[in-house]
Amino acid sequence: MTAALQIEGLNRFFGALHVTRDVNLTLQRGARRALIGPNGAGKTTLVNLMTGALKPSSGRVMLEGRDITSSSQAERARRGLARTFQINQLFRGLTVLENLCLTIGERDGECANLWRPAGSKPSVIEEALDHLESLRLVDDALKPVRELAYGRQRLVEIAIALAQKPRVLLLDEPAAGVPSSESHLILDVVDALDPDIAILIIEHDMDVVFRFARQITVLVQGAVFTEGTPADIKANADVRAVYLGQEGHQEAHAHG
Ligand SMILES: Nc1ncnc2c1ncn2[C@@H]1O[C@H](COP(=O)(O)OP(=O)(O)OP(=O)(O)O)[C@@H](O)[C@H]1O
Ligand SMILES: [Mg+2]
Repeated sequence: MTAALQIEGLNRFFGALHVTRDVNLTLQRGARRALIGPNGAGKTTLVNLMTGALKPSSGRVMLEGRDITSSSQAERARRGLARTFQINQLFRGLTVLENLCLTIGERDGECANLWRPAGSKPSVIEEALDHLESLRLVDDALKPVRELAYGRQRLVEIAIALAQKPRVLLLDEPAAGVPSSESHLILDVVDALDPDIAILIIEHDMDVVFRFARQITVLVQGAVFTEGTPADIKANADVRAVYLGQEGHQEAHAHG
């Protein structure tokens, strides 16, 4: 079976700093994989290498069997690779609906008109509303993104990623910074995503990881430390030593 996404022998240096170390990782179709590891392990860097935000120093990235190592981010997105960001990157002055319509227009290769987003084709608006409905965001459709609670902004990010009709979805801490009163909304959405989409989630909350993932990759100092099922990872004393047992780990993250 052709993997949805496969990276082979990936390395990345920042100057002398070897941040990604010979990483191999496979997402099969419909994968539910979590990528965990201490702060600074290189998780976001790995996602950036997958999406093309960063170029690897060596190694390959394959999307559904095709070598995309030298493809642009836009090209990868067109071929079905979508991501959300650890730091929110929406057009905050535009409405939720406008953000969605822009994404759909871009996906379909239509030049969206920033000044008349409400004048998008009716089919685009209809599809945008469908996406918003499935994420229970319709009531917010006409509000500027910056007026939404942060948790709902993160949901809009997921809606935008889904509007790209991805085959592979990379979620970098989708609930980061979201108060726990709202984070369940995001996690419910993540749990209910199309089972055909291969998903890689970076997440520090181990309850979320163990609930969501069928496979877990542990990254330490840029290299794959181990991978396995949630049961394997829970039972792995070495993983506990380097990661799970770290007291105050999430606090450090929240302030870092
Ligand atoms: N553009 C860059 N230039 C130089 N060093 C970088 C750059 N981006 C990341 N790094 C370094 O690479 C290492 C990995 O960073 P990365 O953000 O990938 O970690 P992470 O696992 O996502 O951490 P966190 O859990 O805190 O989000 C860190 O030491 C970081 O300082
Ligand atoms: Mg990160």
